[in-house]
Amino acid sequence: MKKRILTGDRPTGSLHLGHYVGSLQNRIQLQSDGYEMFNIIADLQVLTDRLDTKDVEKNIRELVLDYLSVGIDPKKTNIFIQSRVSQLSELFVYLSMLVNVGRVGQNPTVKEETKATGGGNMSLGMFSLGVSQSADILAFNADLVPVGEDQLPHIEQARDLVRSFNHNFGDVFREPEAMLSKTPRLLGLDAQNKMSKSRGNAIFLSDTKEVVEKKIKTAVTDSDSSVRYDEEKKPEVSNLIMMYHLFSDMSIDEIVKKYEGVKSYKEFKEDLAEVINKFLDPIRERREQAEKEEDIARILRDGTQRAIEETEKTMQKVRKAMKYEYRSIF
Ligand code: TRP
Repeated sequence: MKKRILTGDRPTGSLHLGHYVGSLQNRIQLQSDGYEMFNIIADLQVLTDRLDTKDVEKNIRELVLDYLSVGIDPKKTNIFIQSRVSQLSELFVYLSMLVNVGRVGQNPTVKEETKATGGGNMSLGMFSLGVSQSADILAFNADLVPVGEDQLPHIEQARDLVRSFNHNFGDVFREPEAMLSKTPRLLGLDAQNKMSKSRGNAIFLSDTKEVVEKKIKTAVTDSDSSVRYDEEKKPEVSNLIMMYHLFSDMSIDEIVKKYEGVKSYKEFKEDLAEVINKFLDPIRERREQAEKEEDIARILRDGTQRAIEETEKTMQKVRKAMKYEYRSIF
């Protein structure tokens, strides 16, 4: 049996280089290794912390273009929309009966949100996010879930739910495993936080050459002006060196050597912008081609149809195991 992969993103904006090294790269590898791939566009999760939905549909299309531009192939990877697979919502309701609020409250995302909103101001949807994401994973009976480190508690929650469900109703699910990227975490251009859409510190896969040049030029450095790798003393420059390394075929040592004795960051930064642009060029080309040639709507309809079929198979097992099949009625 081919192993099954489930992963995905919220349609809240464009994908950036952090997504690439943290997750997309993995997905492309797994896709070419022949795994059975499902890619969720988690539109329901968008609602956990906002009710402004005017950009969601546009963002879904942008996300698909981002996927196609990096080489995700809709013939090999089923891209689907979470809200249109009602089986996921059904499973979420059942799973929500198998956890207590104390356990859910321990989820670090929930804890952070409790702090950020001063207690009772988070939506019930946000509070139960880990259970909802567990439903996404379990409905596909996914073996592997390639995610960033921040998502690990959700996978742990999913594993707990598997044990609880199987214990109470019989073996239906198997425990999914998280798959972390081997690449070290990429910080944003501020070198303070990880690269993120909301912090204005990201280079997007869809950025133009000029935008990349400008962003690198204004990236935070230090006043010491030597290109050395020292995460403690020179976190900003080290992060830029890391970026250089990740998007070129040069090792960190080789990069440092190249700029030995150079007394300004100007040349290093210009070269870094070139490295990133060289990496992004084929991605930009594929995006342009996809915009012209691909039928985004059809990709989403086909992927969603496949997702419905697969999750319905799981739900039939779930209803049967729970004695909610009601064969005498339906
Ligand atoms: N929470 C993920 C994100 O913020 C998106 C997501 C939703 C997901 N359901 C999932 C990822 C299931 C992996 C598996 O990007």
